[in-house]
Amino acid sequence: MTTSQPTPRRSRSLRSTITADGHLTLSLQERELPELAADEVLVAVEASPINPSDIAVLLGPVAPEALEAESGTLTAAVPEAALGLFRDRLGKPLPIGNEGAGTVVITGADATELLGARVALFGGSMWADYRVASGSGVLVLPESVSTAAGASLFVNPLTALSMVETMRAEGHHALVHTAAASNLGQMLVRICAADGVGLVNVVRRPEQVELLRGLGAEFVVDSSAASFREELTDAIRATGATLAFDAIGGGTLAGDILGAMERAQPPLASYTPYGSPVLKQVYIYGALDFSPTVLRRTFGLTWGVGGYLLTNALGRLGGEAVERMRARVLAEATTTFASHYARTVGLGDLLDPAVLAAVAERRTGSKYLIDPSRDRAG
Ligand SMILES: NC(=O)c1ccc[n+]([C@@H]2O[C@H](COP(=O)([O-])OP(=O)(O)OC[C@H]3O[C@@H](n4cnc5c(N)ncnc54)[C@H](OP(=O)(O)O)[C@@H]3O)[C@@H](O)[C@H]2O)c1
Repeated sequence: MTTSQPTPRRSRSLRSTITADGHLTLSLQERELPELAADEVLVAVEASPINPSDIAVLLGPVAPEALEAESGTLTAAVPEAALGLFRDRLGKPLPIGNEGAGTVVITGADATELLGARVALFGGSMWADYRVASGSGVLVLPESVSTAAGASLFVNPLTALSMVETMRAEGHHALVHTAAASNLGQMLVRICAADGVGLVNVVRRPEQVELLRGLGAEFVVDSSAASFREELTDAIRATGATLAFDAIGGGTLAGDILGAMERAQPPLASYTPYGSPVLKQVYIYGALDFSPTVLRRTFGLTWGVGGYLLTNALGRLGGEAVERMRARVLAEATTTFASHYARTVGLGDLLDPAVLAAVAERRTGSKYLIDPSRDRAG
């Protein structure tokens, strides 16, 4: 084992537990650090974003305002009707934090070249003082990429790139994207502009139209506008988009997009009740709205709605595409794939209901970054 001084022995980590009797508890649990295997490293975590997928594990079905402080923890009742959805996590104190970055402070015998390196990593348990990782699984950050920027180089960048790769692999030529002013959406705007891919951005506020136009987006439609359906159809016709990625999931939007894709097709030479033969596909890849997905089927019978998850997509796209995407993310880390954070907090701040209420809003420009070194002892 090779180590920097002083040797850390214990680590706090944020845990979310839902009990079988219907309580959610958030707590900071402190544990002994394990011995490292020869190829492993210990990373002192210095940055980890709070992504919507982390919030889903953190809070489950609980609204942050329901949380009450109780001897150093936060707790709230989980409605009995919701418990079945969480069957596979009941009684388990789940660690949180999909991705992050920090400094290697101890290495196993076969990973000594990484001692002191600033690295980014992916794979859970990042909301902790320290995180054990395989030396071959970390990404060494170049001088030009700050640790904060390195913390968000997996989930959103690879998902945005995988959307364009999926479009090509499945024979589509342009995209529709919803909740498009998100960090991921802004990355997709820059990718599509650079790659010459048509992109219809759907947002829900006029200021988000301005934001994306400022980034160079050509087609931005506001779902709160009275003319939304016509503008969406026109933009889809202009780009030829037949594939959409929908981060919202609930409500009528997925069906509205399929309807607009159908209306954007040229008139059929001979009528059929089955609509255009062109495949129109929506992938729901987020759950910003948990209400039911409503499909008013006005778009014939050549369509699909499915779920979309980064890890599944990477498996489908294969090793060569994944390597290409990773290389591009690193090369364009501070430009195309830059994320924006509204505030940086320590690990202990996550037990402040006001902080949780702010992050749970998932509003444009309000992403938080966690830096455990802010309140780490020693
Ligand atoms: N499936 C996957 O593998 C995968 C991978 C990565 C990311 N994702 C998903 O990608 C999405 C974007 O992530 P991010 O980190 O880029 O988000 P972010 O920067 O936190 O932005 C969230 C965006 O969602 C909008 N929003 C929130 N609630 C909404 C609602 N009910 N209806 C419409 N818009 C709403 C916000 O707009 P307002 O300001 O108007 O609220 C904001 O622009 C998330 O849904 C995330 O779960 C999925």
